[in-house]
Amino acid sequence: MINVDGPPVSLDRGADAVRRAVDRVLDEFLTAQRDATGDDDWRQDVDLLRSFVLGSGGKRTRPTLCHLGWRAHAGEGPGILRAAAALELFHAFALIHDDLMDDSDTRRGRPTVHVTLAERHRRRGWRGSADRYGRNTAMLWGDLCLVWAEDLFHAGEVAAARRPRVRALFQRMRTEAMLGQYLDVRGEVAGADLADCLRILRYKCARYTVERPLQIGAAVAGAEEADLAVLSRYGLPLGEAFQLRDDVLGVFGDDALTGKSSLTDLRDGKATVLMVLARQAATARQAATIRRWHGAPDLDLAGADLLREVIVDTGSLRRVEEMIAARTEEAVAALDDASIVDDVRAELVGLARRLSVRSR
Ligand code: IPE
Ligand code: IPE
Ligand code: MG
Ligand code: MG
Repeated sequence: MINVDGPPVSLDRGADAVRRAVDRVLDEFLTAQRDATGDDDWRQDVDLLRSFVLGSGGKRTRPTLCHLGWRAHAGEGPGILRAAAALELFHAFALIHDDLMDDSDTRRGRPTVHVTLAERHRRRGWRGSADRYGRNTAMLWGDLCLVWAEDLFHAGEVAAARRPRVRALFQRMRTEAMLGQYLDVRGEVAGADLADCLRILRYKCARYTVERPLQIGAAVAGAEEADLAVLSRYGLPLGEAFQLRDDVLGVFGDDALTGKSSLTDLRDGKATVLMVLARQAATARQAATIRRWHGAPDLDLAGADLLREVIVDTGSLRRVEEMIAARTEEAVAALDDASIVDDVRAELVGLARRLSVRSR
């Protein structure tokens, strides 16, 4: 039912061109899924998913890095665009389920997938709980993104000799991301120290966002284990910087730019480096504020402001900014040892700065 062997996709260069080419692959793939049955509700729901994946302004960080990893090792052939697009579908799965788990209402400036589906239930006046319907169907659409990511990934044209390494990286990436989400959910309720928080962010984000996409691209191009290790020395610290920035934006960001609520992390009581450092340095009064508001279901704007004040006054925000800067520099320095195509090196340096200092 899936035509993943459609016409060859073009291999333009440049970030925007990569984004367009990846979006074309995703559009063709999702359109084929939508048209696979005559069921109207199915078509409408796949369109909702298409609009979430293609029309909501995701940064396409993972496909971009996958493409750069491939170019860094002088990749040739069309297989990379499907692999890169598959990483975006995997990301869509991760976001849909993440928003369920975090009980987030907003993503990329729009209602989250489960909220949209619940709203559809309400509009149609169906029986039973709209919220339950929204959650259950969003879970299934997330599952489908995961399954389709697999289908699309394996439709990429990878030379037979390279396939085992490429597959192993893809498999590892998926397991790591789910382990990370598990640790994140557990951290909310069981508590977490600094080492735990760093482990959580490494697994839930750093590896699947930066390290593995780069390595997958490089492996498709035929890079050896030693090359992949160098990319890891760039990708892992940068991925950590990326998530530390996400945590900062999750509390101090402008909702209109991030497209997410700056209350969710605080209300959910997320185990973040920001909160661990604040807790460590807190006075008795500040500690009481944290106990009252961090993880409080009734957190309001005033309570969030009190927590922000504590994060700033304890020096936690400054320390996290230092951690982001140190990891970004570590990533850039790792490129000195890399035997990669020169103009890609320059792009990776630029990208490191953009991913770690950003407002969305
Ligand atoms: C958000 O990822 C979730 C994290 C892993 C931090 P992005 O910041 O890459 O989200 P989009 O795809 O650009 O919306
Ligand atoms: C990041 O989770 C990891 C994934 C989405 C898999 P977060 O919960 O920290 O990310 P946001 O802030 O909701 O995007
Ligand atoms: Mg979240
Ligand atoms: Mg989360």
